[in-house]
Amino acid sequence: MSHQVSESSQHTHSVIGYKGEPACLMVKQSQGLEGSVRLAGAKNAALVVMASLLLTRGKSLLRNVPASADVYNMVQLLQELGAEVHFDDVHNVVSVDTTHVYGYSVSADLMNKMRASVLVLGPLLATQGKAEIAFPGGCVIGDRPIDYHLKNFAKMGVTVTEHDGLLSASVDCLHNRNLLLEYPSVGATENILMAAVLTEGTTKIINAALEPEVFDLIDVLKKMGACVDIEVPATIKITGVKTLHSVDHAIIFDRLEAGALLLAGAITGGYVIVPEAPAHSMGLFLMKLQEMGHIILIGPQGTGVKIKATKKPKAVSIKTSPYPSFPTDLQAPMTAALVLSHGTSVVQETVFENRLMHARELVKMGAQIEVTYGSTAHIRGVEALYGTQVIASDIRASCALVLAGLAANGTTTITGIHHWKRGYQALEKKLQELGALIELFE
Ligand code: EPZ
Repeated sequence: MSHQVSESSQHTHSVIGYKGEPACLMVKQSQGLEGSVRLAGAKNAALVVMASLLLTRGKSLLRNVPASADVYNMVQLLQELGAEVHFDDVHNVVSVDTTHVYGYSVSADLMNKMRASVLVLGPLLATQGKAEIAFPGGCVIGDRPIDYHLKNFAKMGVTVTEHDGLLSASVDCLHNRNLLLEYPSVGATENILMAAVLTEGTTKIINAALEPEVFDLIDVLKKMGACVDIEVPATIKITGVKTLHSVDHAIIFDRLEAGALLLAGAITGGYVIVPEAPAHSMGLFLMKLQEMGHIILIGPQGTGVKIKATKKPKAVSIKTSPYPSFPTDLQAPMTAALVLSHGTSVVQETVFENRLMHARELVKMGAQIEVTYGSTAHIRGVEALYGTQVIASDIRASCALVLAGLAANGTTTITGIHHWKRGYQALEKKLQELGALIELFE
């Protein structure tokens, strides 16, 4: 069963009767989403892998790259540094020729568009010994400092100066070090890793982030000729090499998009199949769905997930932490599912200091949520939500509000859709394929 939203309806009269101002997502109650849906490549792997191509000189190919706004920004950033980049966004293939990359400074407006811009720092220091960037924008979920990056680059010999929001880094020769991260920061791990692969000697990153997206980067670096090993406890050991060569790599599938699609099945009492879902890297999330009473079936070799949703989901509690704990990027979408569960849930967000902004918007829809200390949500399940106007504050909050809109009585209008477009490649079309009454108005 699928509700095809005809081309004409998008322009004259939409299926959900919207004729107002553009730039929003309109979501109408959609019970029982059903069907099988394809998955895009992981944004948080694609962005860092694209940055890692600056470590090479030559033409690389990346496949399964999601056509989301942040990826287009990264394309622009690489071009600004001198790379020739072509993004075939129909086939999700990016070709990057770094032969003529001589640039080492990134414009402030590009830096401010996305956090991942800071990930060019490691490759530029490793190949050119210098970089000029602006501080990446903080956002509503937290200050997003980069002190772990800078502190450890300084230990590797990098001089960093800062002047009115601009940051200049330079180094004659990077030194190999044993670097202990005070927190398993994904970005800091990735940045230091990309600097270390061309640093003579052995560098260790201890208390490293070991998210699947970090492992996709390690996979690419090894394909380039880097020498990278994993040691316990949570240590990445790098033995520097002289040069790295171009690669042909397929980005891993996006566990976060998979989570969003499965939760769309859960919240509408449907039956959704995601054949490419990397179940092996979604363990705790899937366990929590099962604890809610949903039937979860996992495909062979841990790839592919089917959810047969219960109509009476039980309340469960979650606490976000670095991988393999419950992922912070699925906290908001999961919170949306919990507001309609039976009982009381507690959602503890420990990774970012202000990542419960969606709670206020869900309360506008009739949810009963009390947030304490900015990081813990106490949720009392309700029987129903009601469509209204809500605002997305960040990428994952936009997903939470779409999910809530699918379950809510009536119609929900979501603004702040640039966040949705930053994080997902036309996810609304995939939801439509499953029967969702959702339309994106640019
Ligand atoms: C990456 O951000 C992801 N982004 C985030 O996804 C994800 O939520 C996060 O990792 C955690 O998994 C990309 O990969 C592009 P961190 P990153 O460094 O690297 C603090 C999404 O929705 N911290 O692990 O920025 C930081 O403020 C995005 O797709 C410092 O204090 O995350 C945060 O509280 C959101 N100093 C915590 O550590 C630093 O130098 C974790 O941040 C670095 C981080």
